[in-house]
Amino acid sequence: MPNEKPKFYLTTPIYYTNGLPHIGHTYTTVVADAIRRYKRMRGYEVVMTTGTDEHGVNVERAAQKAGIPESEYVARMAVAWKALWDDLGIPADEFVRTTDLGHVRTVQWLFKLCKENGYVYKGHYTGQYCIYDNAFVNDAKPGDTCPDCGRPLETITEENYFFKLSAFQKPLLDFYKKNPNFIQPETRKNEIISFVEGGLKDLSITRTTVRWGIPVPGEEPHVFYVWFDALTAYLSAVGGPDYEKRGFWPCDLHLVGKDIIRFHTVYWPAFLMAAMLPVPKQVWVHGWFLMDSTKMSKSKGNVVLPRPIANMLGMDAMRYFLMREVVFGQDGNFSYDALVTRYNSDLANGLGNLASRTAAMIEKNFGGAIPKPGPRLPQDEALAKVASETIGEAFEQFENFAFARSLEAIWAAIAAADKYLTSEQPWALGDSEADTQRKATILWTTAELLRIVTVLAYPVLPDSTAKVWALLGQPGRVSSVELDGLRWGQLVTGVQLGKAQALFPRVDRQEAIERIEAMANEELNPAPAAPAVVPAHATTASGAAAAPAAAEKIGIEDFAKVEMRVGQIKTAERIVGADKLLKLTVDIGTEIRQICAGIAQYYEPEKLIGRKVAVVVNLAPRKLRGVESNGMIVAASVGPEGRPVLAGFPDEDVEIGARLK
Ligand code: MSP
Repeated sequence: MPNEKPKFYLTTPIYYTNGLPHIGHTYTTVVADAIRRYKRMRGYEVVMTTGTDEHGVNVERAAQKAGIPESEYVARMAVAWKALWDDLGIPADEFVRTTDLGHVRTVQWLFKLCKENGYVYKGHYTGQYCIYDNAFVNDAKPGDTCPDCGRPLETITEENYFFKLSAFQKPLLDFYKKNPNFIQPETRKNEIISFVEGGLKDLSITRTTVRWGIPVPGEEPHVFYVWFDALTAYLSAVGGPDYEKRGFWPCDLHLVGKDIIRFHTVYWPAFLMAAMLPVPKQVWVHGWFLMDSTKMSKSKGNVVLPRPIANMLGMDAMRYFLMREVVFGQDGNFSYDALVTRYNSDLANGLGNLASRTAAMIEKNFGGAIPKPGPRLPQDEALAKVASETIGEAFEQFENFAFARSLEAIWAAIAAADKYLTSEQPWALGDSEADTQRKATILWTTAELLRIVTVLAYPVLPDSTAKVWALLGQPGRVSSVELDGLRWGQLVTGVQLGKAQALFPRVDRQEAIERIEAMANEELNPAPAAPAVVPAHATTASGAAAAPAAAEKIGIEDFAKVEMRVGQIKTAERIVGADKLLKLTVDIGTEIRQICAGIAQYYEPEKLIGRKVAVVVNLAPRKLRGVESNGMIVAASVGPEGRPVLAGFPDEDVEIGARLK
């Protein structure tokens, strides 16, 4: 059967491999993923590309520093970048590496087309060159020093191939005029138009001073200039010279940060025009996430990493924050404080709370089956109107890349539902026929609103909305709901609610920030050899094998990374199919945690209730036999069989949550 779906192709930039991803890179990839999900719900066949930009002097240097060949260095880095996107649930449909053979061929082909069409010539490039770093320094003047090593630059002339960019001033200006949406937002478009109106100089597109690059066939030692190479990755990802077969070119949307706008809106369309290939339809330029108003960099020690945030608050919380906090297109400040505050207010108290209270009331009053509504009163109709209008508003804003506004509209509907419940007070109604009918209407109305906001929020919150969808017992998957047909009144009634799941457990702000920062610290400065968490002859009761005695010593700063607190066991039960494990819930002062402990063969669950134990609270959560364990109980390991003996506080009544130091 022929595939009738319209196609949509979008890209993130391909990221440099001389560093690892931070929240700024994650931002573009998250936005691309949300657009991809949204377009799929709108019936498109979508391809999203990301990848790694692996050539150039910086990679040569980084590989040299690491003492390995460039090819090995970039292979390792590409694995790390790809693994991060996979782990965060934002994998590319096409992950392109600029060292892929298919890409190399595409670059060489594009060059050939430009040359055949008369837009490439051989010339000489004169620039300021650092002989120690083997690199030209763009924009430097004679007499300047190298920004990397501080040594004096030299004026050097090398033979290059030039691209006749100057010939594209008029074609580009005409193109911008004919395609007024090509550059977005509007302010960026004006900036580029004035730049092009100011005149374009020809561009050198090969280098002979760089070794690690794609060779110009038959012209060694010429290699391609990194941007001629990198931009072409967008085309190689969807077929290169055979792009027509896949049908995804021209690209519908390039998402880029403001620092790389010229490359995408001037050079790239000019290269494609020169080769007589179709030009992308749109470039959307976003701003930066800043830390204390400055750009993040590892050397400044202010980079924010995505993994610790996802570990602590969940990936959806990070996605929500990135897309809600800042107007897409503008710069914004990143702060952990704002992140955790939004998590607690919008997610835990907002969506999470509405879902859990609605489900709890349906459970209590209707045996967990979604009731059919009774007669409707004006206030019910009013909420229905809010929901219907939210559908239009959320779509319109999303289509305009006003993601924050779209989310704002969805959350206004959640607030309206909260207010509706508060004023209708279904809990105050009795069991008479009339009251039961009224309760049915109120709960149906709330659940229907919840269904609608769940669908609307899916592109931004894919994991948690899938949980709410299952909780509402609705058929199929939320991701397969067709947005075009979304209307008020489609809630399937009579179905049983799914199992309640913790959506967004509230967190203590200070503690959450400390934990995120500790994990980030660990990731940025990994210990040379993993130190044992507990002293020799002690073990952890996490169900894992006993930790061997530590051979090397650790500093106090390493020990300080481990956060241990006094906890009190609230419940304890055996786990079917895991005879060594107990599932505990432990009060650690700020929250109740679920922790699995490998003590089932030595402790009766019922005798543990009320017992105070030492808990490592800042371990990343993990699953043991499919059961989530969020922390670790400390125990000594006694005798040859390693019998666990729980560390405890028999002499004094210590306060729950007290820190062990
Ligand atoms: N390799 C080039 C792109 C080639 S595309 C054909 C490159 N790589 S990059 O890794 O330095 O940057 C990739 C993207 O990340 C850019 O769009 C850049 O704007 C974005 N960001 C880097 N830091 C950022 C923030 N702090 N905030 C938001 N985005 C930021 O440029």
